Amino acid sequence: MSATPLPRTEGPGERARGATALDRRDQWTALAGHRARLTGTRPRDLFDADPARADRFTLDVGGLHVDYSKNLLTDETLGLLVDLAEATRVAELRDAMLRGEHINLTEDRAVLHTALRAPRSAVIEVDGHDVVPAVHEVLDRMTEFADGVRSRRWVGHTGLPVRRVVNIGIGGSDLGPAMAYDALRPYTDRGLEFRFVSNVDGADLHEALVDADPATTLFVISSKTFTTIETITNATVARRWLVDGLGAEEAVSRHFVAVSTNTEEVTRFGIDTDHMFGFWDWVGGRYSYDSAIGLSLMIAIGPERFREMLAGFHLMDTHFATAPIERNLPFLLGLIGVWYGGFWGAESHAVLPYAHHMARFPAYLQQLDMESNGKSVQRDGRPVTWETGPIVWGTPGTNGQHAYFQLLHQGTRFVPADLIGFAEPAPDLPEALVPQHDLLMANMFAQGQALAFGKSAEEVAAEGVPAELVPHRTFAGGHPTTTILAERLSPSVLGQLVALYEHKVFVQGAVWNINSFDQWGVQLGKVLAKRVEPALTEGAEVSGLDTSTAALVARYRTLRGR
Ligand code: F6P
Repeated sequence: MSATPLPRTEGPGERARGATALDRRDQWTALAGHRARLTGTRPRDLFDADPARADRFTLDVGGLHVDYSKNLLTDETLGLLVDLAEATRVAELRDAMLRGEHINLTEDRAVLHTALRAPRSAVIEVDGHDVVPAVHEVLDRMTEFADGVRSRRWVGHTGLPVRRVVNIGIGGSDLGPAMAYDALRPYTDRGLEFRFVSNVDGADLHEALVDADPATTLFVISSKTFTTIETITNATVARRWLVDGLGAEEAVSRHFVAVSTNTEEVTRFGIDTDHMFGFWDWVGGRYSYDSAIGLSLMIAIGPERFREMLAGFHLMDTHFATAPIERNLPFLLGLIGVWYGGFWGAESHAVLPYAHHMARFPAYLQQLDMESNGKSVQRDGRPVTWETGPIVWGTPGTNGQHAYFQLLHQGTRFVPADLIGFAEPAPDLPEALVPQHDLLMANMFAQGQALAFGKSAEEVAAEGVPAELVPHRTFAGGHPTTTILAERLSPSVLGQLVALYEHKVFVQGAVWNINSFDQWGVQLGKVLAKRVEPALTEGAEVSGLDTSTAALVARYRTLRGR
């Protein structure tokens, strides 16, 4: 990583963006006043006052139907939020990003994941060089390779075709492909098996290999830097497993491919660069699964479906780049989040997909959102004095309803949530399971209603509930949700959804005046782990260990009999 401090895009525009602290801006003060005036307003009041509210606060973009009417906002709120976006020049930063400027100031890099899904005919320059041809060249090579594996033409060292694909990577080199593989499971080649190994806990790799045959296993080593300790450790053990299993060093070339930006390290590891699929430093790890990092996914769903997914991403990119702020989905969802974090004390944001195949979507969004916007200094290094990114969490409905929804309905926390559902069940669901889909979706709609409107003490009492139980059985309501409904969870819709959240995160980072594209916060723990490891293995003296950590290290060694 380059550590060049605040380089060239800090032109006059950049200074103007952050010149006034966000919470000193007139637009911020206006929102604070407006928030105070809304105290006591219930969703019921908002809907009663405006019978057209549900229609007016709904937007259709591509295949997504997004209803944000159950949020705690009015036309005035939206107007003030748009004013804030204009004052903080979010659209200017967006345009600078899309033009390939180095908006990632602390690493002096462009931020161009949108180029990964641009059509062949597009021209997008980074430092005066059009990157689109290279993007498509890699996509074409991925296509050829994926087709080879899927058609069983690509054979391993012993001449057998691949049966199991093991993606080894972590963070952005794991979460995206793993999430999308699950999401698009009905579109995958069910004759192939996929495993996603990320954890340095050997149990993860063991589970992926315990019933695998080296002769039919293909490893995709995915790492932007190819220096990440978890990935290189697992890949090294996997290499040994393969070579031992097949009894030949040369087997590596038929069973290992790499996805990386670092040719030197890939070569050092022993993977032929003919079997390396590259990407570029202007693709952040958490924005990378539509790059070659998606190779395992492409093998699973096929190049055609992969390209449909890219087209879905591109559709949302185009919308984000062109729609006016007040009808721009990523802007709206981003600004609504700013509203709750800044003025309603929301500390977290729940993402609740009513689709079992979306089980890993919240975990994917955790990295996307929290690694991007978990920052506490502004773009020029001054501390922020406002809240930035929320804690993102969630699991699929209806499971969460029988776990933590109690807190959402009757707890003391304020938790805005996104409910995501699909009109059609998974395309390959057996007939006998199809009727359950209505029950699933009935739950999603019911939860949105219950969270917003609750059930008053009067309503509870009118049902004959004993007076002493009425408070326990009352639902205050007023819990905001945004509902995202699509016809089906197709590759295109998944691309649209991911791009929507990517750009939402961008909008929020721009308003908060933070750099959403670095991740220095993950460094300290990595450095300390390297220092602590010799203390565990060799009992080495580690200077500077605090007494608590030193005692834990000693106890660990005792428990391990060292
Ligand atoms: O540690 C954080 C991080 O750098 C993420 O941003 C990234 O997605 C992940 O590690 C994996 O990095 P790499 O792809 O270089 O192995």
